[in-house]
Parts: sequence; C-alpha cells; structure tokens
Amino acid sequence: MCVEKKEKIQKSFLKWVGGKSRIIPQLLPHLPAGGRLIEPFLGAGNVFINTNYNGYVLADKNRDLINVYQWLRDDLAGLLNTAQLLFDSDIDFYEIRCRFNCNITQPFTLKRAAEFIYLNRHCFNGVCRYNQKGEFNVPCGKYKKIYFPKAELIAFSNKLISVPVTLMAADYRAAVEMAGADDVIYCDPPYISGSKNDIFTGYTPHKFNYPVTKLLHDLLVHAVKRGATAIVSNANNTTVKSIFDDFEIYEIDAPRSVAANGNRSPAREIIAVLTPNMI
Ligand SMILES: C[S@@+](CC[C@H](N)C(=O)[O-])C[C@H]1O[C@@H](n2cnc3c(N)ncnc32)[C@H](O)[C@@H]1O
Repeated sequence: MCVEKKEKIQKSFLKWVGGKSRIIPQLLPHLPAGGRLIEPFLGAGNVFINTNYNGYVLADKNRDLINVYQWLRDDLAGLLNTAQLLFDSDIDFYEIRCRFNCNITQPFTLKRAAEFIYLNRHCFNGVCRYNQKGEFNVPCGKYKKIYFPKAELIAFSNKLISVPVTLMAADYRAAVEMAGADDVIYCDPPYISGSKNDIFTGYTPHKFNYPVTKLLHDLLVHAVKRGATAIVSNANNTTVKSIFDDFEIYEIDAPRSVAANGNRSPAREIIAVLTPNMI
C-alpha cells in the first residue's frame, strides 16, 4: 500500500470550493498503491499532500494555481516573504485585486503568486472566479481575523520538493493521456447536478456538463485499458451513476464547507473506481 494513512489530515494553504480535505479519510482507502498519482483536477492539492506516491503529475487548467505551486517549489522563502508583506500591509483588498488584474499579461511572476494567495484567503469563501476578460472578480469576504497559512505553505513546499512532480497548467485531457501501466488517476472534476438542463442544454456554470463528464469517463476507460487505475469523485445522482455505470460505485456523505444557501447537511457524493482487472 503506497498511501500513507496519516492520523492528522494535512490541510492545503488554499481555501478551495470542492476541496477534498473533509473526505480524505473516506477517499484514501480507495487509492491503491501505484507508480505515480495523476491528478488532472488538482485544485488546492488536498489529495496530493495527504498521499505518499513515488511521483506525481499535477494538473489544473487554472494557471494562477499552477504558478503558485511552481514558486512554492522553486522559491519558498521568496514567496513566503512577499505573501507575508501583503497580509501584514494596510493595503485595501480591492487595491490588491486591481493590481492583480492589471498584470494579466505577466501571469507567471512571484508577485502574482503572492497576490493570488492573498486574494484566496481574503475573498468571499475562497471562491476563485474570473470574468470574460480574465479578471478575478470575487468580492472581499467578511472575516474577523485572517490567517496567514505559513505552516501549510511550508508543508506543501516540502512535499513538492520531496518527490518527482510534474506540474501542468493544462486541460484534464492532457494529464489523463499521460497515464500508463501502474499509474493511479484521481479525478475531482466540477460536479454535474444531474438536472435535465445539464443533460439537454449542456449548460453548467463550469461548462462541466454531461458530454464533458462522459468524455472524461471514456478517456479514463482507455487509460485503465493501458493498465492505470481510475478513481473519480462526483455528485451522487442518477446522471453521474449512469455515466460511470461500469465503475464500482461507493456512496459517501461529505461534510459541506461552503454553504452559500445556508444548507449545512452533508452532500451525497460518490467515489467511482475502475481497475484493470474489471475490464
Ligand atoms: C473540485 S476542484 C478540485 C479540488 C481538489 N481535489 C482539492 O481537494 O483541493 C476542481 C478543479 O478542477 C479544475 N478544472 C475545471 N475544469 C478543468 C479542466 N477542463 N481541465 C483541468 N482542470 C479543470 C478547477 O480549476 C478546479 O481547481
């Protein structure tokens, strides 16, 4: 077994909608030993930092996210200092958001990485959303005290330099296609609701609709035929279950972190698993 079952769950330094820190204990038993862990929907990296594979392919289409991880790997001290200065400053949230949005044409700087961490910890519920011009447009959150996640940044950086890691700002398809024999692919895509609108109009806010989820399924089946194992998190509804009907489905209750509508009851989720011996 390659997965380290730690007593204490290591949290990411980022707040992330759909982040998996709360279901790590339910998820880890489904992640088998393997060569590399491939995460095509990396997000805040909660699964990465709570597992112990010999190598990782970490991908997300959000290039700001990948930029932060690259600086965390290459210059921890520089990133800590720059981010700490921002957290300690009296500069208004909207001023920092404005500076961040002025530098869209310089996407890979250390300064931008530090600003991204600042925005993530100060904005409403850690939501990450951009407008059509590519500007971050989440408003300031209401917090009594803001926590600077220094220990979590250091832990993440240590993990990044302790094993071979490939970081990719890319669509999920590129990462899934890299999977070969003995690799484990963990997919945590934006969930589809299962409503008829998703199915027939193809609309979801994240553009992660029925056809895209079906394509993800098909690419994963191909990867498993190449000898990889695929594990998928998604919502527990009939649409999702019909897409992954050839996977083994495990139903879980996931505590909610963001309850925009005030609903704090656990969300019903599934963990779907496909191994080479099931094909
Ligand atoms: C639910 S979050 C993943 C959370 C992560 N498992 C964690 O525990 O922090 C989904 C992620 O998928 C990314 N994403 C959405 N569409 C994508 C695509 N087409 N290709 C790659 N990543 C995508 C988003 O940027 C987001 O970070």
